[in-house]
Amino acid sequence: MIDVDMVIELTGLNDIIPDIYARFRPIVRDGVSFLLSGISPERFLGIVYALSEEDTNAGRLVRLAQELPTLHKLGQTIARNQNIDVGFRRSLVELENSIMKIDKAIIGAIIEDALGNWMNKHTVEIKYTVCYEASVAAVVDFTCNRLDGLDIGEGVFKVIKPGVTEHLQQELEILDALAGFYDSNRHRYDIDNFRFIDTFSDIKIALLKEIDLSNEQRNLGLARCFYNGVEAVKIPRLVSASTDAVTVMELIIGEKITDARLTPVQRKWCAKTLFSSLVCHPLFSDQQRSIFHADPHAGNIYYCAHNGHIAFLDWSLAGELDKRDRAAILRLSMDIFTRDADRIYESTRSLSEGGIRDELAIRGEIDRFVAEASTGFIEQSLALLDRLAFKGVKFPGELLMFRKAIFTLKGVLQELDPGFDMDRHLIEFIKLLLLEELPLRWFYLFFPLAEDTLRYKSLLSNSDLIKIAQEWIRLL
Ligand SMILES: Nc1ncnc2c1ncn2[C@@H]1O[C@H](COP(=O)(O)OP(=O)(O)O)[C@@H](O)[C@H]1O
Ligand SMILES: [Mg+2]
Repeated sequence: MIDVDMVIELTGLNDIIPDIYARFRPIVRDGVSFLLSGISPERFLGIVYALSEEDTNAGRLVRLAQELPTLHKLGQTIARNQNIDVGFRRSLVELENSIMKIDKAIIGAIIEDALGNWMNKHTVEIKYTVCYEASVAAVVDFTCNRLDGLDIGEGVFKVIKPGVTEHLQQELEILDALAGFYDSNRHRYDIDNFRFIDTFSDIKIALLKEIDLSNEQRNLGLARCFYNGVEAVKIPRLVSASTDAVTVMELIIGEKITDARLTPVQRKWCAKTLFSSLVCHPLFSDQQRSIFHADPHAGNIYYCAHNGHIAFLDWSLAGELDKRDRAAILRLSMDIFTRDADRIYESTRSLSEGGIRDELAIRGEIDRFVAEASTGFIEQSLALLDRLAFKGVKFPGELLMFRKAIFTLKGVLQELDPGFDMDRHLIEFIKLLLLEELPLRWFYLFFPLAEDTLRYKSLLSNSDLIKIAQEWIRLL
């Protein structure tokens, strides 16, 4: 009788982790073992059966990830981290690519079931030239007859694979228990201050959003409005036939941006466009609430060579920033920029949810931060948010999501243009905005009491600007 340990041996889980990360082996092993012990006996048997169809360790590991959506998500998350060993990253990415084995009959049946009539009406034919299958969703392309009032001639269907929703519910319950288990056994692992509970809750949120197609459909609609008129940026158009079981949208013809054949000048342009549209645009939009892509890794960003557009796919994870939140974020960023410890504390307090419990600890952390040598302002702001959150400050969830999105994007920018300087581009973006706002600013310079920073897109007051200018001169 095969048991949990044997399954782990059969997948060579230990071997895929390189020696430099040997200290993580026990934690990975315990995690997978915990998951496998928690699932139902029928599912466990199903996994044993699936593994028996493969004859290499790597093949079996891929099958295991296919059967356990959470394990696959974990591998994917690690593979996107730019700070890990290159060889290890490559083997995880290869593993992920090899997962793309689509079961056409099953996917076709789900689509027919949900949209049979609509498909007949529009003479829809599934092509399978775009075929993508991951742990949760599958995407296939189709052509259709646009004469019947449809404004697209080809599109894609995105569906949730059968059984995933039920499997996931089971795994998420196990994950909660696992996070608690790790946390109370942290002395057994060599992992510094790793935040198990937080990390696991992030994975849980991401997975729950991924199975909710109607949430992504809503985000697609919002994003398309939000980016309407933004040069070179494309969001796939949602087709109204979409249901809870199938998303129907425009086909984007392009390829993963980091795989596209681009000249050095194009690469620089892409990096700049990505940064402006994914970071600056949501931060400085004049809309009350601005949507942002919360998972901008290269696989979700397409470069369309035929028209030079950049398309943002996969809106399952998105956040929204309210204008007041954005003003508070900029306030804090500005205080970090001017390295004013008291003001950083005040801005942190007003941004935090439920106030600050341990003032001394937070002030201490801020003082240490201010005393350190300064490198890269955005980089530092992100690091400080993380350090303060670690000391117990509770920041709004959307802000932490935005922080993480910038971190993910940073990896893509580095790959496209290793010399890309986020600070310089942010300042350039602000400079352009300020030029737009100059007439209004002159007026308020004479009537400062009438000034309301929320009226400016840049959300900075004249006195803020004067402070920035002074600091700028000091740094030169
Ligand atoms: N509108 C589209 N046009 C062309 N390809 C698409 C489209 N939407 C998704 N894809 C392809 O399917 C893949 C998976 O879609 P995505 O929405 O990112 O799902 P997942 O949440 O599984 O990552 C994308 O990386 C891309 O290759
Ligand atoms: Mg994706």
